[in-house]
Amino acid sequence: MWEVEVVKRMWFGSFMIIALIAVGVWVFFQSPFMQEKSAGELNSSEQGQSILDIQPIDAGSRPTKQFELTAKETDWEIQTGESVNAWTYNGTVPGEALRVQQGDFVQVELHNELEVPVTIHWHGVILPNRMDGVPGVTQDAVEPGESFTYEFIAEDAGTYWYHSHQHSSLQVDKGLYGPLVVEEKGEKPEHDEVFILDEWAVNQDRENWTNMGGMMMGSMQGDGEADTKEMYDTFTVNGKAGDAIDPLRMEEGETARLRFVNAGYQLHRLVFPEGSMEMLAVDAEPVQSSGERNVLEIAPGERIDVLYTKGKDDEIIGEMPSVENSQDMQIPVLSSDSSGENLQVTGKDPATSKGTSYASKDLLFDTVPDVDVSYDMNLSMGMNMGEGMIWQINDRVFPETPPIQVEKGDIVKVDITNEGRLNHPMHLHGHRFQVEAEDGGAVVKDLINVKPGESYTIYFEADNKGEWLFHCHDNNHADRGMVTIVDYTSVFSPFELNQTNQP
Ligand code: C2O
Ligand code: CU
Repeated sequence: MWEVEVVKRMWFGSFMIIALIAVGVWVFFQSPFMQEKSAGELNSSEQGQSILDIQPIDAGSRPTKQFELTAKETDWEIQTGESVNAWTYNGTVPGEALRVQQGDFVQVELHNELEVPVTIHWHGVILPNRMDGVPGVTQDAVEPGESFTYEFIAEDAGTYWYHSHQHSSLQVDKGLYGPLVVEEKGEKPEHDEVFILDEWAVNQDRENWTNMGGMMMGSMQGDGEADTKEMYDTFTVNGKAGDAIDPLRMEEGETARLRFVNAGYQLHRLVFPEGSMEMLAVDAEPVQSSGERNVLEIAPGERIDVLYTKGKDDEIIGEMPSVENSQDMQIPVLSSDSSGENLQVTGKDPATSKGTSYASKDLLFDTVPDVDVSYDMNLSMGMNMGEGMIWQINDRVFPETPPIQVEKGDIVKVDITNEGRLNHPMHLHGHRFQVEAEDGGAVVKDLINVKPGESYTIYFEADNKGEWLFHCHDNNHADRGMVTIVDYTSVFSPFELNQTNQP
């Protein structure tokens, strides 16, 4: 009697499970995502124009600036006696600083001496799609022993950076990045320096944290940064930590344009001496500045330029002292004869300037535009059996995410919402967008850091045909799904995402 009852229940139970799975599969295939094109299907119909044929790239009568960058392995000394195994462009972290003048024709030959394929992406530069350096989308990754030449016109002055876009979560992390400065014509401050911020795992294995455990811990804790905080134990400025950082040599009253780039995974807050700093530009767009704040918040992937004026005594610009490892990220500013003993970051925790604080000087739209395309971008975290944490756009992971489909000339609106617990610095390739600024106006950028619970509406004009990535610049999140594509319907990519081509 009892046994019969159990067998019956088991039968019924299995039947219910099978029925539920069947319903689940049916619902999945009926969902709108399955019926739409996904971001990975860029070449499903080779119709229209190949991205290789979009526009000629021609120096004309412009001055040409040529560079060679060789990707290679290097033992990189982060601090006296402390080295890391790095992948570099030309043997240093960051890679060689590229400085050109606005309007120059830039030609960069990439040689690959690593044992893995690489590319170069020109972060923030508006250029023809086939020069964007995204493997499987705009080119094939450059194989070991091979070369590739990038060419573009440096139309807009400002601070940019370059980095590999092949397996970015690993390759940028290992040092494949460098600064690109497009100098504007006209008057300049006495000093002009680039500082690239980053984090390293020197005494621990970061791989331990990129797995499920680390991500899980990160997602459970409170400040939107917890996953990356677990991964790294050392901060660097231009590849050096703490005492190994070169001081800035300046005299009282001298001014400097300081260009900050965040190449890492973690948001950084730099404290300046009271009254010494004014914001000049974010993501290469000049802003209406204000001198009242002395903390600068820079999200991963973001660039912020400031005008700094040195005071009478030696000073220090450094990470907020309450942050663990903050002593690694300190830039002393010393007069020529000083050795700068015992300098301390003095900021309390006053008002902070960040990428969206101030309005841009030149806007893309003077008023809220009428839009042709609207896209709701919902950022969330999920779990995948066997893979651990995944990071999603509209409940899908790349390349299954729904693309933003546009025609040339469309005005596009994207509503970005972050319902998760971590920060998502979302970066758009090939375009600049406009978003509301805190001070009331609007700011033109190519990266917006969307913190937990925040939402932003961005507007841009689809004026650069191609297949362009739009992704989280916490590259671990991108690697685990948080990527989509702005897909111009009239063009196609002849490249394929596969084993070799992994953005
Ligand atoms: Cu720094 Cu896809 O970019
Ligand atoms: Cu993210």
